[in-house]
Amino acid sequence: MPKSSDPKSIRHRLLCWYDVEHRNLPWRAEPDIRPEPYHVWLSEIMLQQTTVATVVPYFGEFVTRWPDVCTLAAAPLDDVLHAWQGLGYYARARNLHKCAARVANELGGAFPDTEAALLAMPGVGVYTAAAIAAIAFERPVVPVDGNVERVTARLYGVRQPLKQSKKRIARLAQGLAADYRPGDFAQAMMDLGATVCRSKAPACGACPLVDDCMAANTGRPEEYPGKATKPIRPTRCGVAFWAVRPDGAVLLRRRPTRGLLGGMMEVPSTEWRENKWSLIEAAAAAPVDADWQPLAGVVKHTFTHFHLEITVLWGRVTKSSNEDGVWSPPAQFFEHALPTVMKKVAAHAETHW
Ligand code: ADE
Ligand code: SF4
Repeated sequence: MPKSSDPKSIRHRLLCWYDVEHRNLPWRAEPDIRPEPYHVWLSEIMLQQTTVATVVPYFGEFVTRWPDVCTLAAAPLDDVLHAWQGLGYYARARNLHKCAARVANELGGAFPDTEAALLAMPGVGVYTAAAIAAIAFERPVVPVDGNVERVTARLYGVRQPLKQSKKRIARLAQGLAADYRPGDFAQAMMDLGATVCRSKAPACGACPLVDDCMAANTGRPEEYPGKATKPIRPTRCGVAFWAVRPDGAVLLRRRPTRGLLGGMMEVPSTEWRENKWSLIEAAAAAPVDADWQPLAGVVKHTFTHFHLEITVLWGRVTKSSNEDGVWSPPAQFFEHALPTVMKKVAAHAETHW
C-alpha cells in the first residue's frame, strides 16, 4: 500500500521538488518569497482560459505599461481592451478593469486577502479566488484546475471519470492544504501537472510523488482519472443510385447475404465508407449507365455502430442492359420490404427529383 494517505509527506516532497524545478514565470517570486498581489491577480485573470506560453508576453506588456493596480484602474478602458487583444474574451478585460477600479478606489489599492472576499470581486471565480488567496496571501487553500485534478486523482487512485468524481477530488486536494508555504504548494501542483504528471505520458520516473502515488503503483497512471465513455459513432458515407426507366420503374437489387442488412432489398448503393465519394468515383460504381445528377441534401440514418449519410444520384436510364436487380415503380416498393434506410432514400428521391 503506497503512503498516499500522508499529506505531510506529499507536501514535503513536492515543495523540495518545486524549490529546484519550478518554472520561472514573470509573475512569480522566488520560492518562499511573497509575490506582488497585483502580479498574482493579473496573471491569474490572464491564465483563466489561455496557456502560460501565451500569457507571458502579455503579462510583461501590462506590468510595464501599468506597474500597479492604481495605474491600471486609471487607464482608459479602450487602452486596456486594446492591449488585451489576443487573450480571448473582452468580457474578462472589462472585468479586469472594473476589479482594478474597485481595488484602487474603494479598497485603497489593496486587494482583498481572503478567498471569500476575493470571490466577490469582478472576474474572480472559485479557482481564481483560491489561487490568489494561496499564492498572494498564503491562505491554506488548494486551487483546483484540470492539472491539479489530474495529479490528485492519480495520487489517490481515483478511477471514476471526472464527471462523477469532481467533488471528491476537490475534497482530496483540499486535504493537502496546510499553513506552510501554501502558495508554493499550489504552484507546485500546477507545475507538476503541466510538466511531469501530464495527461498522456506522465513521467513518473521524474516525479517526487511516485512513492506516494496510487496510480503510479498500478503501472497504468494515465488511466486515472477515467475517461467518460461516450459511444463513439463514426460517420460513414454512401451513394445511392436512383435509376429511372422511361416507364417510371426504378431499379432495386438485393444486398449481399453477409453484412449489414444482408439479403435485403436496396436502392443500389456504393460501399459505406469513411471518406466522402466524388461524383466521378460514385458514377464509376453505378449499377447502370446514366448521366448521374446529385440530388440536393443527404439521407441520414443511424445504425448501432455508425451514422450513415447517403447522397442520392438520379439518372434516366434509356437503354436497359442485363443489370442485376428488379425494376419496380416506386408505388410498389412496399412489396419488397425495404429496410428503413432505403425507405428514407426512396422518400428523399421522390421529393427531390
Ligand atoms: N495556471 C493558472 N495559474 C497558474 C500559475 N500561477 N502558474 C502556472 N500556471 C498557472
Ligand atoms: Fe503523476 Fe506519475 Fe507523479 Fe503519480 S507518480 S503524480 S502519476 S507523475
